[in-house]
Amino acid sequence: MKVVITGGSRGIGRALVERFVKEGHMVCTCSRSEESLKALWEELQRTDRVMFKGCDVGNRLSAKDFINFCAKHMKEFDVLINNAGILGLRESIENYPEDVWEEVIRVNLNGVFYITKYAIPFMKSGGVIINFSSGAGKRPAPYWGAYAVSKFGIEGFSLLLAEELKNRDIKVYAFNPGATRTKMRADAYPHEDPNTLKPPEKVADFVLRLISLRPPSGSIDFYE
Ligand SMILES: NC(=O)c1ccc[n+]([C@@H]2O[C@H](COP(=O)([O-])OP(=O)(O)OC[C@H]3O[C@@H](n4cnc5c(N)ncnc54)[C@H](OP(=O)(O)O)[C@@H]3O)[C@@H](O)[C@H]2O)c1
Repeated sequence: MKVVITGGSRGIGRALVERFVKEGHMVCTCSRSEESLKALWEELQRTDRVMFKGCDVGNRLSAKDFINFCAKHMKEFDVLINNAGILGLRESIENYPEDVWEEVIRVNLNGVFYITKYAIPFMKSGGVIINFSSGAGKRPAPYWGAYAVSKFGIEGFSLLLAEELKNRDIKVYAFNPGATRTKMRADAYPHEDPNTLKPPEKVADFVLRLISLRPPSGSIDFYE
């Protein structure tokens, strides 16, 4: 398969890159830091199954460059995984700083729109799009501010996209990975013991199963 994954430098995105490569698939990935992607590529013995590029998904020109870069190398995509995201602050709406709000919506929501819009022409019939959501995007999560609102947006975006792509046989999922041992989770819960959480590799296992099963489009939660 030919797979595009945003935010592949660490956390869940990195586990996805490693897993797809291990299974013999081709991956094109990005993150803001091209250095961290290069380090990952070195760890993967400079495999020719991974292509990477520095990109800010929330910047439309950067997002377009990245997708064109992937298309140049892979021609078509079987899978698009919109994984990149940022947390912002845990703060009340009343006290939420406007600049942080705008940045979180720019990356988590506009970024998914740009990447998906530019990728759709290259998506194969029978393909899959997975948009990373969160429990905070499904039920009220006070003090999760722009992050929660961006993930509610991802739920809605995924539902309407699924309808639009139905005739092209492309499945679309809003996917909640649940609590996972990553930097984002540690930033959100600094007092939590990370060893009590599942590792990102478990989420990667689930995502591969999801892709092979291709259930009807919709909102999906990780389960054991
Ligand atoms: N971990 C959890 O418990 C949990 C729970 C529910 C949902 N999620 C969702 O799962 C996804 C992955 O989370 P994670 O925990 O693995 O996060 P993470 O460890 O913070 O990793 C985020 C990845 O996204 C990249 N990224 C951030 N901003 C970007 C931008 N503007 N453009 C391109 N890449 C960008 C980061 O690299 P750079 O910093 O180099 O850009 C990094 O590779 C997110 O969408 C998150 O909301 C996670």
